Amino acid sequence: MKITGETKVIGIFGYPISHTLSPLIQNAALEALGLNYIYIPFEVKPNNLESAVKGMQALGLAGVNVTVPYKEAVIPFLDEIDIDAELIGAVNTIVNKNGRLKGYNTDSPGYIRSLHEDAGFAPKGKTILVIGAGGAARGIIAGLFLNGASEIIIANRTIEKAEEIRLNYAERCRSKHIQIKTASLSYLKDPQILSSVDLIVNTTSMGLEGVAPDVDFASTSPHVLISDIAYKPPVTQFLKKAQGAGRKTLGGLGMLVYQGAISLEIWTGQKAPVEVMMNSLRAFLNE
Ligand code: ATR
Repeated sequence: MKITGETKVIGIFGYPISHTLSPLIQNAALEALGLNYIYIPFEVKPNNLESAVKGMQALGLAGVNVTVPYKEAVIPFLDEIDIDAELIGAVNTIVNKNGRLKGYNTDSPGYIRSLHEDAGFAPKGKTILVIGAGGAARGIIAGLFLNGASEIIIANRTIEKAEEIRLNYAERCRSKHIQIKTASLSYLKDPQILSSVDLIVNTTSMGLEGVAPDVDFASTSPHVLISDIAYKPPVTQFLKKAQGAGRKTLGGLGMLVYQGAISLEIWTGQKAPVEVMMNSLRAFLNE
């Protein structure tokens, strides 16, 4: 990588930031495209977020990703946000266009692109069970909603959080003829419901605790797709159980790569080299 007087700077704001895989994926892509950009991790300490965002304008950064814990907190400092970011209430990508900052959320279209490209699944007209109602679930639900799912069931341990998301969509659902329902985790064992679902996606952080949502996979339709947005390990315990029951599965690596690919496309206007990005990630994770 050659840095010159014309190199454009992009990067990622977060705290902590050392865990991020984005510099690895993005710099591999920029190099493959031969673009004179560099992607840098920025550790932005709490209380410094506003000055960091203003610094983008002052220093002429072309754009940044935003990660935990700033995806929501960054919104008041932006000039504009797009529809995904508005529905989710979170921004993971900012582009600096002549000093005007626009926020996007590429987690949501990133998941949808992974569904299409990696699993041949189109959400339009489908019934989908989303497990979890945290920040990640909000991104997935927005993508499914915007891409025409006919029914979304949100199952969560804390039902109030699922209900909060449902209410946020109530008005929009009426005009789009989409149904959003909420359920407790006991729903994951209801054969009548499970057999009618086309996609089940685990968005919970349960995997970090070494457990997985207790879905009765034997009661699901043989055509169902089972997806987990976690990517470490690439085949999570949840997906292993689904595979054991003979179900098709989709891991979280694709979503990670595609959200990065869409960010890159927003910043540079070039088609992202998805293969290169995926290979850099796989090599790092020793797959
Ligand atoms: P993220 O941003 O990764 O979505 P989050 O907003 O903290 O993280 O949300 C975590 C999700 O995992 C929530 O839906 C949470 O359920 P609650 O809303 O009831 O907290 C779910 N979750 C985490 N650990 C869980 C567990 N042991 N059992 C069931 N659900 C769990």
